[in-house]
Amino acid sequence: MKKLLIKNGRVIDPANNLDETLDILVEKGKIVVLNKNLNSDGAKIIDAREKIVTPGLIDMHVHLREPGREDEETIESGCKAAAMGGFTSIACMPNTSPVNDNSAVTEMIIEKAKEANLVNVYPVAAITKGLQGKELTEMAELIDSGAAAFTDDGKCVQNSEVMRRALEYSKIFDVSLISHAECSELSQKGHINEGYYSTILGLKGIPSAAEEVSIARDIILAELTNTRVHFTHVSTEGSLRMIKEAKERGLKITCDVTPHHLVLTDEALLEYDTNFKVNPPLRGETDVNALHKGLSEGVIDAIVSDHAPHAVHEKDVEFALAAFGIIGLETTLPLMLTKIVGEGILKLPELIKKLTIAPAKILNTNKGNLSVGNNADVTIFNTKTKVRVDSNKFLSKSRNTPFNGWELNGVIDYLIVGGKMIVEDEKLVNRA
Ligand code: DOR
Ligand code: ZN
Repeated sequence: MKKLLIKNGRVIDPANNLDETLDILVEKGKIVVLNKNLNSDGAKIIDAREKIVTPGLIDMHVHLREPGREDEETIESGCKAAAMGGFTSIACMPNTSPVNDNSAVTEMIIEKAKEANLVNVYPVAAITKGLQGKELTEMAELIDSGAAAFTDDGKCVQNSEVMRRALEYSKIFDVSLISHAECSELSQKGHINEGYYSTILGLKGIPSAAEEVSIARDIILAELTNTRVHFTHVSTEGSLRMIKEAKERGLKITCDVTPHHLVLTDEALLEYDTNFKVNPPLRGETDVNALHKGLSEGVIDAIVSDHAPHAVHEKDVEFALAAFGIIGLETTLPLMLTKIVGEGILKLPELIKKLTIAPAKILNTNKGNLSVGNNADVTIFNTKTKVRVDSNKFLSKSRNTPFNGWELNGVIDYLIVGGKMIVEDEKLVNRA
């Protein structure tokens, strides 16, 4: 493998408190040295002047649809989309068909990801068999096979006793339990946020309480079992109030938020466009403001895409029948650069932290930093180039984005995974 020398970029590595112009030398797939004015004979030079150089970004909430719905996304197509979005590592959710609730599925995902040979894939296994909320999966076996964390995402474990046991097991193995917080009795048959817009549009609402009841329960169970819990895609002011209070009391709670919940409100539903239909639903302005505050105060640890690909025939239907979900691998970074950093809610290093070392810690991996000796996973982008989102150019197999046509800043120039160039000059490297 060729030596790489990344020259004169603004290196932002929150894990090592770095934000300065540096060169990085990569040799045999590892980071060898970071310093000013490095030279190396025979190294391939990447000119990173005017560019941002960060640890490879991590998206810890992605739905790849393999096995089962390869028409929507395969492991390979999802990895390509991740690379184009600047992610060197992704964690994939278990709500496939069959469900990732056994070693055979976990091993198959790892095998296919290896064959794709693009980005690191961390399979997240189910908490309960078949996502049925009843019987726990064989956690020890799944961890041996490579499961990085556990969740019933897409669904929520409704039975508190089952959730308690899951937390007790996760503590033994020191893995994260990711809670998709949703009380199904309160949310069932709902389509959008319960409030003014659900009333005038005549659509059944999903109240904030559906999420908050479940967050309250899991905080209580985290305290009972003295275990860590990670809440994914938090969307309401009340959820954040409880999470903030729990963190202040020293409980081991972390949480993440999606770009769509940060930049859209339920007002967007006025035209019944099913690309805005997502679970949890887009909320009101008070909630969005609370999410912004949660980000800047550090109550929200990580940002995730919740990339949820769906086929055209599942979205191009009557609103009530449409599937929930938004794809996000290829828009998350530009959206966050433009709408969150651009509008002063986070500084760039704070954003990078929420896309690197924060999710790495939650997943218990050694990623998300540019420490010497580590595998060289590096993302190089520029915040200046403006692009119009064109979903037809996505490498994802699906097109269900509400952001098509938006003008955003931020383009991935290079992506390096384990010292290998995956994206070069804004294009996926053809390694056939
Ligand atoms: O909108 C969503 N789509 N929310 C989820 O929790 C699941 C996801 C999916 O799998 O499509
Ligand atoms: Zn979810």
